[in-house]
Amino acid sequence: MNQSNRSLITLEELSKADILQLLDNAAKFEACPNRKILDGKIVATLFFEPSTRTRLSFETAANRLGARVIGFSDAATTSSTKGETLKDTIMMVSNYSDVIVMRHFLEGAARYASEVSPIPIINAGDGANQHPSQTMLDLYSMQKTQGHLDNLNIYLVGDLKYGRTVHSMLTAMRFFNPTFHFIAPKELAMPDVYKQYCNNNGIKFVEHTDFNRDVIAGADILYMTRVQRERFSNLDEYEKVKDAYILHNDMLEGSKPNLRILHPLPRVNEISQDVDNNPKAYYFQQAKNGLYVRQALICNALNINVD
Ligand code: CP
Repeated sequence: MNQSNRSLITLEELSKADILQLLDNAAKFEACPNRKILDGKIVATLFFEPSTRTRLSFETAANRLGARVIGFSDAATTSSTKGETLKDTIMMVSNYSDVIVMRHFLEGAARYASEVSPIPIINAGDGANQHPSQTMLDLYSMQKTQGHLDNLNIYLVGDLKYGRTVHSMLTAMRFFNPTFHFIAPKELAMPDVYKQYCNNNGIKFVEHTDFNRDVIAGADILYMTRVQRERFSNLDEYEKVKDAYILHNDMLEGSKPNLRILHPLPRVNEISQDVDNNPKAYYFQQAKNGLYVRQALICNALNINVD
């Protein structure tokens, strides 16, 4: 972690012990989510981009721990529309709160905020860059469903170019000897910089453009992602790839018994509704796990002992 002010910007800053400790703390919150250990604390949630799960689960996490929440879900209602800089916004909000959870459309905005902020910043997603709290709940979900994080075959499907959740996952999994399978149309392939990251860190990966029953037969985790319309400057390009891969229930015949299907959500149509009742579908429980993980992350940022 950026221990100078306890911000969480990327999982690159966490050691294996940090990650395992946070997951352990999340399990404690799952066992007992209502604890008034943040009485008197103020958590600010600044969302410059839309969100359902991340904002509401962070706010629920704060409320369940006895903190109070301030912030905004629509930057159009703030003085940023009058030209106030991100630095000045952060300086103002740090006058009123103890920790800032921020989502921003610009890559690097969270890093910048952490450099100017006197209080911890938790990155709730910065453009197509990183989404560390999502990855922590993904890891929690994998550990819970597989019993461990080691040696997993993880298949990442869809928008691997702009998908910040898959970028964060590569970083976090470097300690656990995964084998990744990158399944994407060539327009949305995993960027070279992340493949280089895998090579530098001994992370095995295989690339595919086909998405079918045979390709996914070896998966322990099938991590579906949405093609993100909002990241395309040319909507014709989006139309070309938006329905590239759709998971149907019959594609899961012959899959491994331990397979679980994850998705950071929201989904559009990349997972057919007929998958929802398959016991291997785990995406709604995965989103619920976000509450416990975010309780652990807020406590960590505030240096609050969970025990
Ligand atoms: N997974 C995720 O970040 O969802 P939201 O955009 O709804 O927060």
